[in-house]
Formats: sequence, structure tokens, C-alpha cells
Amino acid sequence: MQPELAQREPASRGPAYRPWGLLAELTHRCPLACPYCSNPLALVSKNEELDTETWLRVLTEAAALGVRQVHLSGGEPTTRSDIVEITAACRRLGLYSNLITSGVGAARAKLPALAEAGLDHVQLSLQGVNQTQADAVGGLAGSHQAKLAFAADVTACGLPLTLNAVIHRGNIHDTDAMIDFALRLGARRLEVAHTQFYGWALANRAALMPAREDVVTTIRRVQKAQVELKGRLAIDLVVPDYFARYPKACCGGWGRRLISVTPAGKVLPCHAAETIPGLTFFSCWERSLAEIWASPAFEAFRGTDWMQEPCRSCDRKEWDFGGCRCQAFALTGDAAATDPACSFSPEHARISALATQESTSAPPPYIPRRAAKDVVSA
Ligand code: SF4
Ligand code: FES
Repeated sequence: MQPELAQREPASRGPAYRPWGLLAELTHRCPLACPYCSNPLALVSKNEELDTETWLRVLTEAAALGVRQVHLSGGEPTTRSDIVEITAACRRLGLYSNLITSGVGAARAKLPALAEAGLDHVQLSLQGVNQTQADAVGGLAGSHQAKLAFAADVTACGLPLTLNAVIHRGNIHDTDAMIDFALRLGARRLEVAHTQFYGWALANRAALMPAREDVVTTIRRVQKAQVELKGRLAIDLVVPDYFARYPKACCGGWGRRLISVTPAGKVLPCHAAETIPGLTFFSCWERSLAEIWASPAFEAFRGTDWMQEPCRSCDRKEWDFGGCRCQAFALTGDAAATDPACSFSPEHARISALATQESTSAPPPYIPRRAAKDVVSA
């Protein structure tokens, strides 16, 4: 048992349940249309987005609640006209700011002002290692070149750069090239992240699911590179849930370390929580972050009391918290079930067979992440 979890204080206020990170989904607007996007299928339009004043209040409340890191995300966060103001507020409040960006659209033009405002870190998505592949996945001609220019500017202005490469059946053979690419771009960190099937990625699962043998090969290659490149490039490996033995501790545990705020202001324990029916999620218009942190929806899957078997009597339950609640619901219809990514789940064999069947069938065409006209306009 992790010592901090032995606390008997109320879960919403105990030291193990103190928010550390804020995922600020500033907008769903994005120039790209990646088929593995984790945004919901029902995207928030520009006129539904929180205004600047409200985001600044959310950041202030987050800092008071103990949050230390803010992930400025989207969509493409630099489509917000107030992204510099929001970044400056993070600095003023002592919050470490991480810009999660595609590097296209307005990103490059705004980078100097963002650096000046005190941006701490840039996480840049990588759609592919060559123009044809990357532009096809992102659905925008010229996006790869724009991204390269942006990456060069990031390192030139001294900001730490992490590349995030989402792995799927269309690029799983390119991990060596991605590692070379990260080294050439001067990245300090590379995330080799197998697709997590939420939102648009779940809708495109059959087109994205890699073959088991390719996953195994990729994991071995990445583990080898992690050793060889130690001190030059840190490589994080996110294994695919459907081929895992144990699930991930999603968000570090429900309502434990993370608060996510949607572009429209809904405050959630994770980005996909609204897919679970029967929970009431408040908006930052209605309640303060502190009140929402202690609300019934955040309490719903805190700790381990809510668990069923096999989690209830499992040694790992305070390490992985039974996996992902949203994935458990999506795959079993029961948000309190053991995540089927776990090999102890009675559903694991079915999920594993599904992954094999999808990965060995001809891939259907991508359903591109597309939105209403006002969503894509900057
Ligand atoms: Fe984790 Fe539950 Fe699986 Fe145990 S049974 S490893 S607690 S998901
Ligand atoms: Fe919601 Fe994992 S994405 S708990």
C-alpha cells in the first residue's frame, strides 16, 4: 500500500487527493483533423467557449487549491486570441505552463510572445516522419513543414521541447525514424504513445488498431533506445491498453491528482468523464473549483470502496485504481467494472480478441475529426 493512501481523512481533502495538474482544454478549434483525437465527438464551438476573465479566475482558483502544473491544451490552444494572456497568468500565479500544440496555424507567430509571457514547456504533436504521411493524418497540406519550422523556433528560444508521437497501425513501423527525428529537432523528450481509444480515436479504432506482433516489436525497440539514449533523449512509452497485462492508473486515480476543464467550462476528473452517464458535473460558472473537487461526481470513484471483484481483493488496487473508468464504461457498460485492459477482468479475452480481429482486417477509412464550420475557424 502506498503510505499516503492509508490516510483516514475525507477523500476530497486528504493529502493523497490534492490536485496537482490542471488540464485546461481552452478550445476544440483546431486546424488539423487527426483521427486519433481524444476530444469528444460533440465538439464545443467558439461561441460556447469560456471567456478570458473566467479562465483567469479558474487558474487563480486552481493555484489556491494546490495545482502546480497547467496543460494548455485543445484543440489547438494557440487559436485562442488570449493564449498569451492566459500563459502570463500562469506565470504570475506560479503555475508551470505546458503548451500542448500541433505547431500549425497561429502557433509559430505567437511563440515569441508566449516565451516572453513565461511559458515553461512545449509539447508538440508529431503526425508522421515525412510530409506525405503527416499531412494525410493531420488532414492539412503543408502542416508538416509548418511543424518543423515551429520546432526549430522552440529550441532556438531555449524552451524545452517534448514530441508526442501517437502510434497506430499506420505508423507503428516508424518508431526508429521518430526517435531520429526527435534527436534532429533537439527535443529533450519523446513520448511514444500508443493510441488511447477515447473520443475520435474510439470511433476510428478499427482503422488505428496495430497488430500485436508490431506492438511487441515496437516496445522492444523503444526499451533498447531508452537505454542507448539515456542522457540525450528521454523516451516515455505508453503501451496500448488492449494488449496490456495491467491497466494504466488513469489520471493517477479518479479525482486524485487532476482536474480537467472543458472549453465550455465543465470541470471533470478526466477529459472523457462526461461519457459516463448518471454523474452530475458542475461548470465553473456554477461552483468554485474547490467545491467541485469535493462534489459527488469527483467522489464517485475515489479510493477503493466503490470497487467490485476482481479489483476489490487485488494487491494492485491502490496502484492502478482499477484502471480507467471511462474505458470500463465504454467497453462493458459499467463504469465501476474492472478496466478490461486488465488481464484479471472477465472481459479481457473478449477485448483482446476484438483487437486482434480489428488489427488483422482491412482498415476502414479514417473518420476525420471534423467539426462545424465555426469550430475550425480561428
Ligand atoms: Fe488493477 Fe483491478 Fe486488475 Fe487488480 S484486478 S490489476 S486492481 S484493474
Ligand atoms: Fe476517464 Fe480514464 S479517461 S478515467
